Amino acid sequence: MSNAKLKNSTTEWRDLDALHHLHPFTDHKSLRASGARVIVKGDGPYIWDSEGHRILDGMAGLWTTNVGYGRAELADAARDQMLELPFYNTFFKTTHPPVIALSKKLAEITPPHINQVFYGSSGSESNDTAIRLIRHYWALKGQPQRHIIISRKNAYHGSTIAAGSMGGMSHVHKHSYPVYDGFRHVMDPYWFGESRDGETPEAFGLRAAKALEDEILAIGPENVAAFAGEPVQGAGGVKIAPDSYWPEVQRIIDKYGILFLADEVITGFGRLGTWFASDYYGLKPNIITFAKAVTSGYLPLSGILIDDKIVDALMGHDDDFNHGYTFSGHPVACAVALKNIEIMEREKLVARVADHGGPAMARMLAKFKDHPLVGEVRSVGMMGAIELVADKRTRRRFDNPGRVGLICRDHFFREGFIMRAVFDTMVCAPPLIWGDEQFAEAERVIRKALDLTLADVAGEIAA
Ligand SMILES: Cc1ncc(COP(=O)(O)O)c(C=O)c1O
Repeated sequence: MSNAKLKNSTTEWRDLDALHHLHPFTDHKSLRASGARVIVKGDGPYIWDSEGHRILDGMAGLWTTNVGYGRAELADAARDQMLELPFYNTFFKTTHPPVIALSKKLAEITPPHINQVFYGSSGSESNDTAIRLIRHYWALKGQPQRHIIISRKNAYHGSTIAAGSMGGMSHVHKHSYPVYDGFRHVMDPYWFGESRDGETPEAFGLRAAKALEDEILAIGPENVAAFAGEPVQGAGGVKIAPDSYWPEVQRIIDKYGILFLADEVITGFGRLGTWFASDYYGLKPNIITFAKAVTSGYLPLSGILIDDKIVDALMGHDDDFNHGYTFSGHPVACAVALKNIEIMEREKLVARVADHGGPAMARMLAKFKDHPLVGEVRSVGMMGAIELVADKRTRRRFDNPGRVGLICRDHFFREGFIMRAVFDTMVCAPPLIWGDEQFAEAERVIRKALDLTLADVAGEIAA
């Protein structure tokens, strides 16, 4: 295709997109003015836009394409299943081989006390399911007053009204009119942003955990159904809890006998170098929610992994749990998920993150910690963040949060690289297949983009 033809197509696509497609989480006025970026192809760790630019994908689509793009095996698995049985529901006491096989496989790779799976199609749906199941569990146990779920500020659990209310993002709450009742939000374990002068990460982690205990006591433990948390807060800016936090949170959960929902929509399927972040942190959740990378994003699939204690409560009663989706356990999505997990096992991708990708990410980010714009770099497994600040010494932020992050993101993009800006925190979560070549390329682009951003905001930086 000639350049002229490509350019022409891009304009047409942008115009049509602007006319007919309303995008998620978007400032529609500004998108209409700028036009959308059109992505037309992916292969391995790269994507291509409609003007032929090759782009290194530092966000795995959206924390999703763990095995990378262009896997013919996944397409074959979908095609074969479509021809065999493209759809049948799992209501009314029916099942089918792909959902059985995937459920068995998931039970094998989750902790031993988790053996059952309930399916949906998105992370938001899986969290809605978890919320209903948690409250149903306590009703079955004769404690229906236990309905309050405690989550954290800046948590992201999805965009449906229930999951959005369980999340702790004020800009999501703002559009819920009003936020659903029955959720409380405690401080998030964000040492860089929330610690007091001279407070060590260890001491801060214990203080953040204590906020959970204080809230349980304020509400009355007899009214608390569960604590919900992402093992690493992803969309909130890759906030990694200090080492002291999770053991203390687990101790508090056990002490008050509340349920524990680990939202692993981002961290599930190898991101931290273990199948689930719960393994990485030694957590014992009663429910794990998953989505995204279960199929590496090749088809929508999500679900909740449920422990024996909750399943036993369900089995002890003979009334229905009135909840489900037409596409719960969709056969084609299940077949693709099975093949995706088979690829991850065959290529030892989870161990590769632990042995190679995670350490390479940490080494790469460490090279930027002395840059004048950078307040902190942090990573766990293949999730990392670079905090941009106006004053390195005092951690003072730039005015108008998000402005400098967008400047930096645009420099990344012009250099053929995608990292996401969460306000002024640049976050990275690439496909797990990244090797030395991709890390070297990312390092070169990050250095250049940080320098260009610094030049743009030089007048605002503390001397
Ligand atoms: C931790 C977490 N939970 C839930 C969700 C919602 O998933 P979905 O967008 O598939 O509804 C997300 C999305 O990024 C997420 O990061």
